[in-house]
Amino acid sequence: MNKFSGVKSQSHTQSVDFSSNRVVKLFGTRLPIIQAGMVWVSGGKLAAAASNAGALGIIGAGSMNLDLLKHHILKAKALTKNPLAVNLPLLYHGIEEQIALCLDLGIKVFFTSAGSPKKYTGMLKGNNCIVVHVTSTPDLAKKCEDAGVDAVVAEGFEAGGHNGRDEITTMVLIPEVVDAVKIPVIAAGGIGDGRQICAAFALGASGVQMGSRFAATVESSAHPNFRQAIIQSTPGSTMLCMKKGVPVRLLKNKFYDEVSSLEQRGGTVEELHTLLGKGRAKAGMLDGDLENGELEIGQVSGMIRDIPTCEELVTRLVVEYAQAVSNLPR
Ligand SMILES: Cc1cc2nc3c(=O)[nH]c(=O)nc-3n(C[C@H](O)[C@H](O)[C@H](O)COP(=O)(O)O)c2cc1C
Repeated sequence: MNKFSGVKSQSHTQSVDFSSNRVVKLFGTRLPIIQAGMVWVSGGKLAAAASNAGALGIIGAGSMNLDLLKHHILKAKALTKNPLAVNLPLLYHGIEEQIALCLDLGIKVFFTSAGSPKKYTGMLKGNNCIVVHVTSTPDLAKKCEDAGVDAVVAEGFEAGGHNGRDEITTMVLIPEVVDAVKIPVIAAGGIGDGRQICAAFALGASGVQMGSRFAATVESSAHPNFRQAIIQSTPGSTMLCMKKGVPVRLLKNKFYDEVSSLEQRGGTVEELHTLLGKGRAKAGMLDGDLENGELEIGQVSGMIRDIPTCEELVTRLVVEYAQAVSNLPR
């Protein structure tokens, strides 16, 4: 059970109508909820299940070679007719080939991250695609808008995975980004239940992107050990580290302790890269090595207490959201 357990009835959902929401209109989904692209975690099965539940499902291409990406896109398309997207973290090689494959397979919605929004937005817009870029600062949000993206994901540093260097929290970042741009803003980082969706909307966001919460679902490809570690985590179980390289929020484990002590000794970027080595993220998140693997997860993991299906999760989020709206003090 999620710690926000005051949900007793589903009657609240009847009053929730998102049909005029900007994010819903942009993607053609039923709900302004996005299941985040996540390396090793969001394959075709998760993306299709999230889309079938009314959210936008995203396949995380960052951990996939071309064959695997093709497999997951075809799998997702066989499981849903609803809108789907692909996340392309721009820090990896072979992005052009990935884009060409996605376009061939009919993908029309791209969430780009970890790189310049100028690089591929024009080309994707020229192919009639919807482009969303992830930002952790208001300045970059403005650059995204200038580059022609359709929306931005504003991701606070509570988020799981790679993160902004400036440590701007979602609470502060969302209104700043909303004030900086005219395009729709999708809030991310620390959103795990309907109360937090309500809060993000109060800050001016038009939609929410949730990663950690969807990582702990039945359809996620996170290893069962990793999913258990998420639901057993407590507030304070995660920490942002590797700030000298590419900052990342990790669940504390033996590997995290090694990174942390190297950082405290003043280790260099090269030493951090050597410690990270190859295959740490796969070992932790896909293969379930809870000691030596890299376990990317957000602060909100401390609130996650169960492993529902996407359908159960999304239904619950809408009920919680409606209840949170009706509970606001007047
Ligand atoms: C396991 C994991 C892997 C992630 N991988 C990626 C990725 O490949 N590309 C990306 O843009 N963001 C990635 N993220 C960030 C998510 O897309 C999302 O923005 C973030 O999880 C939102 O914060 P939350 O975890 O508090 O919900 C990852 C997050 C997690 C938890």
